[in-house]
Amino acid sequence: MTTEADYKPGLEDVPAAKSAVSFLDGKKAVLEYRGIPVEVLAKESCFEEVSWLLIKGDLPTQKQLADFDHDLRQKRAIHFRLKDLIRCMPPDGHPMDALHAGVSALGMFYPCPTVSDPAKNWDASCRILAALPTLVAAFARVRRGEEIIDPRPDLDLAANFYYMLFGKEPSPATRKVLDACLVLHAEHTMNASTFTARVTGSTLANPYHVIGAAIGSLSGPLHGGANEEALRQLEEIGAPDNVKPWLDAKRAADAKYKVMGIGHRVYKVKDARATVLQEIAEHMFAETARPKNYETALELERVCAGIYGPKGIYPNVDFYSGVVYQALGIPTDVFTPIFAIGRTAGWLAHWNEQLVGNRIFRPEQISTGKTGVKYVPLEQRA
Ligand code: COA
Repeated sequence: MTTEADYKPGLEDVPAAKSAVSFLDGKKAVLEYRGIPVEVLAKESCFEEVSWLLIKGDLPTQKQLADFDHDLRQKRAIHFRLKDLIRCMPPDGHPMDALHAGVSALGMFYPCPTVSDPAKNWDASCRILAALPTLVAAFARVRRGEEIIDPRPDLDLAANFYYMLFGKEPSPATRKVLDACLVLHAEHTMNASTFTARVTGSTLANPYHVIGAAIGSLSGPLHGGANEEALRQLEEIGAPDNVKPWLDAKRAADAKYKVMGIGHRVYKVKDARATVLQEIAEHMFAETARPKNYETALELERVCAGIYGPKGIYPNVDFYSGVVYQALGIPTDVFTPIFAIGRTAGWLAHWNEQLVGNRIFRPEQISTGKTGVKYVPLEQRA
């Protein structure tokens, strides 16, 4: 029988699966996808190649990548009824909710009801990877009262996403930044949404439900939703000089106040992805005045290092991503959907891994409720 001593809140340090998809050393800020450092992939690779790497296990050959890329381009367009569905969504709804609904509907238009055929699973994986940016961009436009822009097969995934959002092609530098952000968000061992994907996959649910469940999990402010909150926090602070008084006031009101964009269950040093994103931000702002939010973020990092550094709490991936997205003109509530587009590659890789020798997840609980309670009929209750 499971005892209180076995219980680890948040499953801290409890292995939930064996996985070869990625490796994380939170003390040394090492993150590798299939053995390759994420910093190298963000610089040298592209999201399509990284998706193949994560799902298939090795870097693709030129032909494999060309065929995969071609397939993704063919699968970007969504059914006209799916566009109608997006047009009917409330414009003030959150883009993560739209994405959640959109991916479920995608599974009805392009079904993959059983998961026993690897070829069909791969086909559905490509469909999901290809169509998610289309769903995100479509809702982002519709709620602004703009027409949905169909995907362009002559652009790569990052450039096409930008094009579908804004109706113009990105500059090569902007394309590279967006692509690198997708790579940096693509995978991160056994985080909450990946665990969700594996649990859902373990029931042999179809891949659209696997990704939908993971999207729901990612949406929370303690997980993917933190990037939105981190940017709102910078705006609330307003300027670098306000950082210290702002934080003092928050901590005076609540000693356990959580600063958004810092802290991590595994990292005890600065997240490798935060370092790369900061480099990207430095590069972007090298020739222009640094935005106020970036200056504020730098000061917030400095002040937080003094207070929380001794506890091993440092910036995570969400600390600088919002500043970068804002500089690209991306609306704040579209930050987490972009995270989802990237992380879909990791979720799919874990789903595939889960299906090999699958066993349904069924953990234990520590029962704390009453037992053997006598049912009292409604009319006899005081
Ligand atoms: N700001 C201030 N203190 C923080 C903190 C933060 N962002 N994150 C953790 N801490 C402190 C807690 O107050 C706690 O202190 P205590 O030991 O004195 O009680 C300690 O660090 C452990 O925190 P806990 O919430 O138990 O850690 P966790 O592993 O359960 O949570 C996160 C990890 C990511 C959920 C947490 O760090 C957090 O909420 N961060 C902000 C949200 C965020 O940026 N999420 C994106 C993650 S990529």
